[in-house]
Amino acid sequence: MRFSELKKLKETSAPPPARKSPPEPVPFPAPPAEQKPPEPLREERAEARKPEPAPPEIRPAKAPPAPPQAAPREQSRASERRAQERKAPAGKPYRELETEAREIYARLLRHSAQYLKASEEPYTEKYETTLALASATAASLKENPALLGLTAYSTADDYLRGHTANTFALVLAMGLEAGLERQELGLLGFCAMAHDAGMTGFSSLYNTPGRLGDSEMAEMTLHAEAGAAKLDRVLDLDYKVKDRARRVVLQVHERDDGSGYPDRLSSEEIDPLAQMIGIADAYEAMSHPRPWRDEMPPHEAVKELIEKEGRGFNSGPVKLLLASLSMFPPGSLVVLSTGETARVLMPNRGLLTRPVVEILLHPDHSPAEGRLTDLKEHPLVSVERAITPAELRERNQKCAARMELARWWTDW
Ligand SMILES: [Fe+2]
Repeated sequence: MRFSELKKLKETSAPPPARKSPPEPVPFPAPPAEQKPPEPLREERAEARKPEPAPPEIRPAKAPPAPPQAAPREQSRASERRAQERKAPAGKPYRELETEAREIYARLLRHSAQYLKASEEPYTEKYETTLALASATAASLKENPALLGLTAYSTADDYLRGHTANTFALVLAMGLEAGLERQELGLLGFCAMAHDAGMTGFSSLYNTPGRLGDSEMAEMTLHAEAGAAKLDRVLDLDYKVKDRARRVVLQVHERDDGSGYPDRLSSEEIDPLAQMIGIADAYEAMSHPRPWRDEMPPHEAVKELIEKEGRGFNSGPVKLLLASLSMFPPGSLVVLSTGETARVLMPNRGLLTRPVVEILLHPDHSPAEGRLTDLKEHPLVSVERAITPAELRERNQKCAARMELARWWTDW
């Protein structure tokens, strides 16, 4: 359902007014000018068109995981440390976690808007503040998975704001899963914040609701280089990491199989941080609605990315995304073994199929009262399958409209 249809439906059904959704910049891929004609990356084709069912075959992983790695002995220590560090908060009710997470998420959105605006100025000082925010976000993610649940939100007034904030939070969760040290994690966050800053110079293209032509798509790919060049304007960017940051931002749209841009690099040439941001960026884009297309349900987006493992994406970052979000990422609609219909609120760390859910409908499809169920605490209840928004509409139209509206963040 498109947002405009949703507005009509909402007017005849219930809750608060939704804002008009802006168009989104689609990072259309293209080769260097003198090489082959532009050809969109797989997930970007999914961006620009209505998503098609994922291909059925299971592909062998091409390469072993190659995210930033610690030395073997350090790795086991790191995983023990992570397990200790990332225990779920004892006894905190979800609503309390969500309230805390909302404060951090609102900060992320404010900072994203400020960063994108500042990147247009001749000079800015946003490195240190972004590092501080990355540190606060990582600290929150360690204790509070509800923050990951909020990345299912979209910002209707300004697409890039929500996309940047969501990518930032998602990739920091992946960085924690990878056991990155503080300094590397900070750089990962900073590069995620900066990765689409080059897009602001192409607003006349990405604000176009229709599909772009080949030459426009090729022009759009220049945003990667524009974003990397903009880092020279960040005066407080640590000179010791400046070259690395420029390389990471430039390489976010490169792909493991050489199908990316701007330089069609292959796996070993792409910085591990760029690979992680690339997949967080792709997941965020695929799982959020745009004015010219519906979103892909979160579980289908994850499935699609898993099936690309060894092709467009390296298997290492794919596994980090899966470990962070689970097989049923926040925002997924699911049917439980009890027959109830539910929405996933947040993952349970280490449990790929047992998230915290909100019950939406009774087995007879009548509205439920929004009871929360932590599937970790209910071993006899399981997720039977995920469903699409269309299936939810068939079950209960009002509930479906409410859920679709609930995807849009409102600043209070
Ligand atoms: Fe992006």
